[in-house]
Amino acid sequence: MIGVFDSGHGGLTVLRALVDRFPQRSFLYYGDHAHIPYGDRTSAEIVTFTRAAMDLLFTHGCRLVILACNTAAAVALRTLQQEWLPKHYPDRRILGVLVPTVEAITGVPWLADVTAGQRAGQPRTIAVFATRRTVASNAYPEEIVKRAPEVTVVQHACVGLVDMIERNASRAELRSAIAEHVAALTKVLAGRPLDAVMLGCTHYPLVADMFAAALPRGVDILSQPDLVARSLGAYLERRPAFDTPDGQRTIRFLTSGDAEQASVFASLYFGRDARFETEGLPSD
Ligand code: DGL
Repeated sequence: MIGVFDSGHGGLTVLRALVDRFPQRSFLYYGDHAHIPYGDRTSAEIVTFTRAAMDLLFTHGCRLVILACNTAAAVALRTLQQEWLPKHYPDRRILGVLVPTVEAITGVPWLADVTAGQRAGQPRTIAVFATRRTVASNAYPEEIVKRAPEVTVVQHACVGLVDMIERNASRAELRSAIAEHVAALTKVLAGRPLDAVMLGCTHYPLVADMFAAALPRGVDILSQPDLVARSLGAYLERRPAFDTPDGQRTIRFLTSGDAEQASVFASLYFGRDARFETEGLPSD
């Protein structure tokens, strides 16, 4: 069984791509609705909540967990992988959304020796829209530019957007907020042409059409759920020990928040019915 984690509903966009790509696999989704939004939390809080979530998913039998939350991946993943996992769950793995995204943007494998001289590609400008905490971590610009120095990364924090999406704000409200975020980014670009946009928050694919409408025509919008699903396929091929059949497929949804409330809009993200059960209330 593969675990998928997000601070709320956003990771369901990733789960949807995984469920379609791996029809034989069972999945356990956990949304930490009790603590959303992570984007406005401190780094220490994000590490604590993410660790509690990994513990819960491993305790339920997941051997591999996809951290389908850019904020948690940017802030907590390295610490958990290097300091916590080897001590507590040495035979389990946590994979984030940052690695497949950076690999797709740069075309450079994560573990490639980036100190060796590289052939410079065509200069490109990429915009990253993400939460305040992901932007503050600087993880995307650092990891991209290290591998592809010809890429200029411009970031913009869409403060408040996750909240709006989680409370199912009207399309008109969302459209106007997104137009403002795109306008703020355009100002920073100061006339520089934009080649691609990365929606660096798993909630944003839900409103990708609104980003597309507000952005100049022809700008590529990268789809993180597809990138993550493709990358998991490659990972399982390299590590067959994690690619064991699950028998009868099951897909379960857990939340630290109110199960009824979490179930209400879940199908919008997941594309089909998703009934949450409440479990594991990590302390504040
Ligand atoms: N969906 C999450 C992300 O990818 C986090 C949203 C939040 O909790 O602020 O960053």
